[in-house]
Amino acid sequence: MSLHASKVFSSLILVLSISTNFRQVIGLLDEENYPRYLTAAVGDFIVFDCEIDFPQGYTIPYKLYWKRGEEIVYSWYNGQTTEAEEYVGRIHLLDKNISNSQYHPTIGRSYQHYGKASINLTSIRESDAGWYECKIMFPTRTPPYRNNGTWFHLTVSGGNLLAIPPINQTIQEGEEARFLCVVKDVTLIKLRWLKDGIPLSAYQDLSQRTIVENDGTLVISPTDMGDFGEYECEASNKVGDVQKAKAYLNVQYKAKVIYAPPELYFPHGRPAMLDCHYRANPPLTNLRWEKDGFLFDPYNVQGVFYRKNGSLYFSKVDETHGGSYTCTPYNDLGTQGSSPGMYVIVQKAPVFTLTPHNLYLRKLGERIEIPCDARDGDNGHRPIITWNKKQSSLPVGRYTINEGNLTITDVQEEDRGIYQCTATNKAATVTAETELLVENIPSSAPYNLSAVSSTNSVHLTWLSRRQMNVEYSVWYRKIETTGWTTYQVPTSRSLEATITNLEPGTEYEFMVLCKDDNGDGPFSKSVRIWTKTEAEHESNLYKGPAPIGYPVNVAVTPVDDGLKVTWDPPDFGMELFKTYIVRWHVTDEYMFGSAETPETSYLITNLTEGLEYDVEVLALSIDDQQAISEKIRILYPGFKSIRAISTVILGIIGGLVFLGVVFVAVYFVRKRFTQNSSQLLKK
Ligand SMILES: *[C@@H]1O[C@H](CO)[C@@H](O)[C@H](O)[C@H]1NC(C)=O
Ligand SMILES: *[C@@H]1O[C@H](CO)[C@@H](O)[C@H](O)[C@H]1NC(C)=O
Ligand SMILES: *[C@@H]1O[C@H](CO)[C@@H](O)[C@H](O)[C@H]1NC(C)=O
Ligand SMILES: *[C@@H]1O[C@H](CO)[C@@H](O)[C@H](O)[C@H]1NC(C)=O
Ligand SMILES: *[C@@H]1O[C@H](CO)[C@@H](O)[C@H](O)[C@H]1NC(C)=O
Ligand SMILES: *[C@@H]1O[C@H](CO)[C@@H](O)[C@H](O)[C@H]1NC(C)=O
Ligand SMILES: *[C@@H]1O[C@H](CO)[C@@H](O)[C@H](O)[C@H]1NC(C)=O
Ligand SMILES: *[C@@H]1O[C@H](CO)[C@@H](O)[C@H](O)[C@H]1NC(C)=O
Repeated sequence: MSLHASKVFSSLILVLSISTNFRQVIGLLDEENYPRYLTAAVGDFIVFDCEIDFPQGYTIPYKLYWKRGEEIVYSWYNGQTTEAEEYVGRIHLLDKNISNSQYHPTIGRSYQHYGKASINLTSIRESDAGWYECKIMFPTRTPPYRNNGTWFHLTVSGGNLLAIPPINQTIQEGEEARFLCVVKDVTLIKLRWLKDGIPLSAYQDLSQRTIVENDGTLVISPTDMGDFGEYECEASNKVGDVQKAKAYLNVQYKAKVIYAPPELYFPHGRPAMLDCHYRANPPLTNLRWEKDGFLFDPYNVQGVFYRKNGSLYFSKVDETHGGSYTCTPYNDLGTQGSSPGMYVIVQKAPVFTLTPHNLYLRKLGERIEIPCDARDGDNGHRPIITWNKKQSSLPVGRYTINEGNLTITDVQEEDRGIYQCTATNKAATVTAETELLVENIPSSAPYNLSAVSSTNSVHLTWLSRRQMNVEYSVWYRKIETTGWTTYQVPTSRSLEATITNLEPGTEYEFMVLCKDDNGDGPFSKSVRIWTKTEAEHESNLYKGPAPIGYPVNVAVTPVDDGLKVTWDPPDFGMELFKTYIVRWHVTDEYMFGSAETPETSYLITNLTEGLEYDVEVLALSIDDQQAISEKIRILYPGFKSIRAISTVILGIIGGLVFLGVVFVAVYFVRKRFTQNSSQLLKK
């Protein structure tokens, strides 16, 4: 319509025709007296622009007539207007104060575009076509008419389907509303109605209260407050021409309450709002509250205020605010009555008895319990406590809520975020927030800690999710004491440790602490274990796994004065190492020997030549547990008997020659032989 309107508007300015009649036309100022030829379509509007030519330019009282032939269709005098029946609601005097003043470059001053007597003819009908005259009479002047009127000719075109379009209606709810929509030829033209752009038939309730009369007139009866809106009639013919015209329905009614909750809970000590849910057209002029049957005037009650929409605002609720309230809305038409009673119950809000910390930090895989608890302000019961995660949800399957506490197990990276603990009763909801941060590294807390005990020591093993750059220390204590002792685990053996120097038959508690680049990590869970009694120890000797490995790569070599035994340290347990024990004995015989050494080699001497020996090396731990190497069987060659035999043979031969020389000779021979044989052996 606005597009069309501007077209009409421009045609109005431009379509000026040359005077063809009796008017004397002299000079520019009289140009207004030329008749103007205007065109508009059915349903549109047109502005007839008419200026008042006051004598000597002074504003004096005047009467304005708009005439069509001899009929006065519109008049204005001193604010009073009259309209001919056909024009009721369709002619509006243009309010000059509407800002359509423009700066005119040739005249060089701002000027009012429309003359003071201009009218806006709306909802144009086919029958509106014809001559119109704007006439001004000055009652206080003689002669009352200064000049003849201004003439306009209106042509109605731009559509050949509609004759009379609908016009705006304002009615009261329940009354009948009628929208005219007259087509030129009922037999050839089809008509349908739309409300707010949707075919009327789509409105279930409204369509049951409407009929379209034969000439196309839409009748709504009875009207409802919800019927207000834009009604459009759409005419179409067989060749596809379509013409539309629309008008508005304004339904007015006495102010009415549309909803009132029977019961309301107000939070003690906090602000609250008591709403009156009403509708009013024309708008609300007054709203009256009653409490327990008496007028309730907020101006007389401290801490209670009217809101613009009539709601009551309680800045701080107390017990005196409880009671039954009603509201009654009014507008210019009056009221449809009071609301039912709204019963206000004052209740204390829940109070937190345990709130979470602001921040929690966990590593992947860990578990977290966030505490939260609340009590009802009135009766000390636990209100409904819920947890939720902001912008997300709690991890399904990994969380539990026990009373108020939230527990999340196997913490994942996506668990980071803000968590809210909410305690709710009928009066209020209170919320406590906490944040969970998740470190993007697996927990370094050692786990699966297990212990094996002996009389004086306990051997611990554990697992860890982190292997790199971590150090462990064992914390332990006798159960009946409070002080903890720590033991730093050597880095070479990171997932086990043996704690020694313990008392037999005593219960101990152990924990393993992990230390990484960021400092001390979490402790493992603790384990408790009893050390063995001496008696148990005896029976368990050699049975339990030794905390130290056995010596490896044992080798035995015969040398001049014995057997040289060498070996390498055991594969594990060296931190518990006390000493090595070399044991040897003659095969199948009872006699044997042993020796202790901290070194990794030993020379066994005093052996019997020509005998076979079994040699083994033991690693002894601090708590006297033993790990025994494999047995090496070796023959100790008879060097001494070899020497003895040769001496005897040489002696016999020499004695046969000359005995005196022989003794000297034997001495030298023996000496050389000894040197040679030891040199040989060295090689
Ligand atoms: C129009 O404006 C004039 C001054 O600009 C003012 O005196 C007059 O009261 C206004 N009329 C209306 C109806 O607003
Ligand atoms: C004339 O009335 C119509 C319909 O109410 C409106 O859309 C239009 O703006 C009015 N024209 C002027 C110049 O006021
Ligand atoms: C007004 O029109 C009448 C005829 O209708 C004519 O006699 C009269 O002279 C005209 N007056 C002026 C001022 O044009
Ligand atoms: C009809 O009512 C509408 C909505 O209130 C308004 O915009 C329009 O100007 C009115 N039309 C006429 C002709 O009064
Ligand atoms: C009335 O206004 C207040 C704000 O001043 C608003 O909170 C309340 O919801 C409104 N009530 C209704 C019924 O619109
Ligand atoms: C909730 O956590 C608190 C603090 O950690 C604790 O004292 C309380 O026993 C926990 N409640 C339950 C039901 O586990
Ligand atoms: C850790 O211990 C649990 C039971 O205590 C067992 O099921 C699991 O297999 C152990 N994990 C490893 C890696 O040994
Ligand atoms: C060798 O044996 C003798 C006597 O049997 C003994 O006196 C001596 O101490 C032993 N030497 C070593 C090193 O065992």
